[in-house]
Amino acid sequence: MSYTTVDLTPRIGTEVRTDLATLTSGTIARDLRVLLEKRGVLLFRGLRIADEDQIKFASTLGTIRLEHGLQITKITPDVAKSPIFADYTKGTYFFHIDGTYTDMPGLASILHARAVAPAGGQTEFGNTYAMYDDLSDEEKNYLDGLEVIHSAEKIQRLANPNPTPAQIAAWGEAVNPPKRHPMVWHHRSGRKSLILAHTIKSIIGLDQAASDALLERLMTWAERPEYIYRHDWQVGDLLIWDNTGTMHRVVPFDLSCGRELDRVTLLGEEPITGPFRYHDQSNEKTAKYLP
Ligand code: OGA
Ligand code: MN
Repeated sequence: MSYTTVDLTPRIGTEVRTDLATLTSGTIARDLRVLLEKRGVLLFRGLRIADEDQIKFASTLGTIRLEHGLQITKITPDVAKSPIFADYTKGTYFFHIDGTYTDMPGLASILHARAVAPAGGQTEFGNTYAMYDDLSDEEKNYLDGLEVIHSAEKIQRLANPNPTPAQIAAWGEAVNPPKRHPMVWHHRSGRKSLILAHTIKSIIGLDQAASDALLERLMTWAERPEYIYRHDWQVGDLLIWDNTGTMHRVVPFDLSCGRELDRVTLLGEEPITGPFRYHDQSNEKTAKYLP
């Protein structure tokens, strides 16, 4: 069997219909990479894939990044199942791009739904290429001249306004230094995307009030329905997002409900590059916070 596709919304998200053998064989991997860059999110509904097949499929698309030594990370607020990641769940309620406090965020992540929330728990993805493309030329020129500071602590404080010393030790700026990036990513392909995320704590050259106001205005723009695909999980769904051309968040859910997703992440292949700043690996080794 080869595959067929059905777009989920006009601007983001495509369902791919195929079978497991086709996916793990790698015969359509090249097509899927092209489609992923174009559509931001690919969905394989109800696949109920085994761990080893998820790993096999992922490795046809790129290089798997080990997270704390593992190929599969359990994304769940259940501390018993995910001692490292459980505490970060509330931080994922806010739109973000994984790894914006490093030079080269992951290329993509592949999630497999093991258990879903009875209410909430949908994951929303926004197309950051489309958000940029639709701006006026004047706005594009202005944003293309900006640089911003990303901080894991900024987004985690939104979720945990009164952090404990242990939380500060896990994601505070002392251990996870803030990272400077352009506001607009100039991709190798020639396309440009906004790097919009609640990890942005300030915009260089603007005072805090002006910086906050601009971010709020951009986030309102970014959340327009035409840029967003909201995925309502069913057990067994497999979904890939292009982490270089989308932002994502999870809709709040009951943290004791047992929601559990298995995640495989692919290593980044392209450092964030803007119009005037090039790759600097200064904090690649020091950033420890992974979600
Ligand atoms: C992630 C993430 C969202 C979700 O795995 O990086 O943000 O729906 N997950 O759990
Ligand atoms: Mn995330």
